[in-house]
Amino acid sequence: MSRLVIAVDGTSGSGKSSTSRGVADRLGLRYLDTGAQFRAMTWWMLTHGVDVHDPAAVAAHADEPVIESGTDPLAPTITLDGADVATQIRSDEVNAAVSPVSTVPAVRRRLLALQRQIIDAAEDGIVVEGRDIGSVVWPQAQVKLYLSADAAARAERRAAEAGATDERSLKATRASLEARDVIDSGRATAPLVRADGAVHVDTTPHTLDEVVDLVLGLVAERVEKAEV
Ligand code: DC
Repeated sequence: MSRLVIAVDGTSGSGKSSTSRGVADRLGLRYLDTGAQFRAMTWWMLTHGVDVHDPAAVAAHADEPVIESGTDPLAPTITLDGADVATQIRSDEVNAAVSPVSTVPAVRRRLLALQRQIIDAAEDGIVVEGRDIGSVVWPQAQVKLYLSADAAARAERRAAEAGATDERSLKATRASLEARDVIDSGRATAPLVRADGAVHVDTTPHTLDEVVDLVLGLVAERVEKAEV
């Protein structure tokens, strides 16, 4: 079997990142968080005074940011023009602006090229998470997953990550997630869809370990089939 590429798509807060990192770690694969790249692009626009709701303005600058992703699943990194932006890309400003920026075709073209380069270079195989990995970025992935979870569960997970689990924060987190889902699923270029051949896993009732084990089982099945 050729080197393993696992595509993990799904909505915000469905458990994509933890699952992808866990699976990559257990299988000795690299890990790419494409959402972090869209977030870094968005942070660049915000800090360079570009109106994120003006697609032409965003497109005009889409080639300028230098974005680098470190692909160790235990310590993934993201830098923008050489500076670590791991904290900034999770800010409320980026949460609010990343979906509109991600709808701009020039942004998607630029990051698609970057994503394919990184996947090409991952000789030991890679787990790639995002919205359009199994459908557009790497449709030939041997294993494709589509993760989902109830909105309430997703909001709880995200709020817990941010350390704000009071009722108001939960409500705000849920509203922000749902607003992004609507834009991510409705955009014209590479919308969030369940890719052909993707296995749908609803993570709501499962712990992280259960989902990782389930995915490892699927991978073993596919690899066995490919080798018969
Ligand atoms: O996975 P995340 O929540 O960090 O992603 C942030 C945003 O980036 C998401 O709302 C839409 C965009 N995105 C995308 O359009 N395509 C991808 N492959 C990954 C993320």
